[in-house]
Amino acid sequence: MKIRIAIDGPAGAGKSTIAKIISERLNIRYLDTGAMYRTVALKAIRSGIDTRDRSKISQLMENINLKVLFDKDTQRMYLDGEDVTDLIRSKEVSVGASDVAVILEVRLKLVELQREIARENGIVMDGRDIGTYVLPDAEYKIFLTATPEERAKRRYNEMISKGVKDISLEAVKNDIEYRDKNDSTRKMAPLKKADDAVEIDTTNMSALEVAEKIISMIKG
Ligand code: DC
Repeated sequence: MKIRIAIDGPAGAGKSTIAKIISERLNIRYLDTGAMYRTVALKAIRSGIDTRDRSKISQLMENINLKVLFDKDTQRMYLDGEDVTDLIRSKEVSVGASDVAVILEVRLKLVELQREIARENGIVMDGRDIGTYVLPDAEYKIFLTATPEERAKRRYNEMISKGVKDISLEAVKNDIEYRDKNDSTRKMAPLKKADDAVEIDTTNMSALEVAEKIISMIKG
């Protein structure tokens, strides 16, 4: 099926879990665009560069070796030839990703890659600016929300279940608040609902319920 589904919303709204279900059910590829910003942040952190330093980060973008590969339709992120898919999930990288995402040179390069991937295949893509900027003519646009408390709780549980130690609900909540503000107030392609997107508040819904709602919208 060559359809494009854009799923946007803030951290913890359920985007990736829901996008994965849709991808499996409709047999279309899922692209997590946040992973790309995270990979840039990891490169900066490893290079000892402040993730908010625009001039150094722009320079870094000129010869960054970042690749998005699909292994049986599962996305893997490569940095300088190394598979960093699991390494980019840390708290430090999350905050750094939100910082580098403000920088124009980062966005231009990553958006070009995202559009290229979407050109060849039907796709469900999640992020912050997919419906407004990356794929403005996507066939389906969804904007997911949930209360900040619920989003923090989900992220916290997710991290605990992945074995992350030394985190508190409070710290996760602070990071989410920082990213919400950073992501929605930046100049270029901020986190924003597209005028023609369908908004779903997922606070009291399971991921499966939300995915089913979206799939029934698509199947008509
Ligand atoms: O979806 P995520 O939490 O993995 O995204 C990490 C950060 O990357 C997020 O705080 C903002 C940025 N991002 C973005 O600016 N645009 C996107 N399309 C996806 C992510």
